[in-house]
Amino acid sequence: MKFSTACLATFASLTSSGMAAPVYNTNSSAELQSAVSQEIFGWTKPTFPELYHTCNSTNARMLNVALQESLEVSAYAKDRLLKYGADDVYYKRWFGNGSIFTVMGVFDHLVESSKSGVLFRCDDVEGLCAANPGYYAGHHRVSVPAETVICDYFYMSKKPISSICFEGNIIDVGPSHYAGIDLFHRYLHVPSMNLDYVGEYAEELDELIDYAENNSTFAVRNTDNYLYYMADVYSSSIVPGGCLGELS
Ligand SMILES: *[C@@H]1O[C@H](CO)[C@@H](O)[C@H](O)[C@H]1NC(C)=O
Ligand SMILES: *[C@@H]1O[C@H](CO)[C@@H](O)[C@H](O)[C@H]1NC(C)=O
Ligand SMILES: *[C@@H]1O[C@H](CO)[C@@H](O)[C@H](O)[C@H]1NC(C)=O
Ligand SMILES: *[C@@H]1O[C@H](CO)[C@@H](O)[C@H](O)[C@H]1NC(C)=O
Ligand SMILES: *[C@@H]1O[C@H](CO)[C@@H](O)[C@H](O)[C@H]1NC(C)=O
Repeated sequence: MKFSTACLATFASLTSSGMAAPVYNTNSSAELQSAVSQEIFGWTKPTFPELYHTCNSTNARMLNVALQESLEVSAYAKDRLLKYGADDVYYKRWFGNGSIFTVMGVFDHLVESSKSGVLFRCDDVEGLCAANPGYYAGHHRVSVPAETVICDYFYMSKKPISSICFEGNIIDVGPSHYAGIDLFHRYLHVPSMNLDYVGEYAEELDELIDYAENNSTFAVRNTDNYLYYMADVYSSSIVPGGCLGELS
């Protein structure tokens, strides 16, 4: 009740302010909750990490856009799972005969389960961004496992999902080239999100395909299988034929 009243108030003030540019605050959760409240991204109750106060308004604006893109990309994935099931060629390619219950559950959990305590911060608190210039777009904090540092290089190197298929195929650039998919991957480093179940067991493309074909129990537990599945489904949904590239 409280929530819908707040939404109406936001809506009313936007309408009455006519063409005035909306001003975004720096609080990811609050902003995004109202932005996605109309189910435009295919999820009814997405949750978001908190952005620490060290994320300034510029950082927060870029992160909020990327978080919205995470919803968009994962909504295409969920839609495909619901419509085409486990016999789908895209499903088989990345998850083999792994359980679709697991895959559906992982998407639901990552998007809609509570992210209480999950924090993104924009200060280079451990100095790892500075120590890995042009390489670290962010990192999980092993000593404070609910926290993720987003480095400035994230904003410089990660691309909007709308540019998929523009700079090269998915296999060449990798799915984490896209900001929305990269943030999805960052959730999976956080214990309350990966539940010690999904992890980075393999990252080389031939290993991912090997999992799908020969070890599907681990295909549905491996982070990169999810990232490739999302990019593959998304690109083929918006570009005829998609742009996966050659799976040698
Ligand atoms: C963001 O908003 C929530 C809910 O209004 C509040 O509890 C939280 O303290 C805010 N966080 C920041 C960093 O401002
Ligand atoms: C926010 O921080 C970034 C570096 O992360 C900087 O480039 C930008 O100018 C800052 N923006 C504001 C509004 O302070
Ligand atoms: C699956 O395992 C078989 C037998 O070890 C192997 O020949 C095949 O190359 C594997 N598939 C992939 C995609 O690695
Ligand atoms: C899944 O595929 C593997 C490898 O081909 C096979 O050993 C296993 O029996 C299959 N599982 C199911 C449930 O079909
Ligand atoms: C499947 O992959 C896991 C993790 O890499 C490995 O421990 C396990 O031995 C593999 N299983 C098979 C049947 O190859």
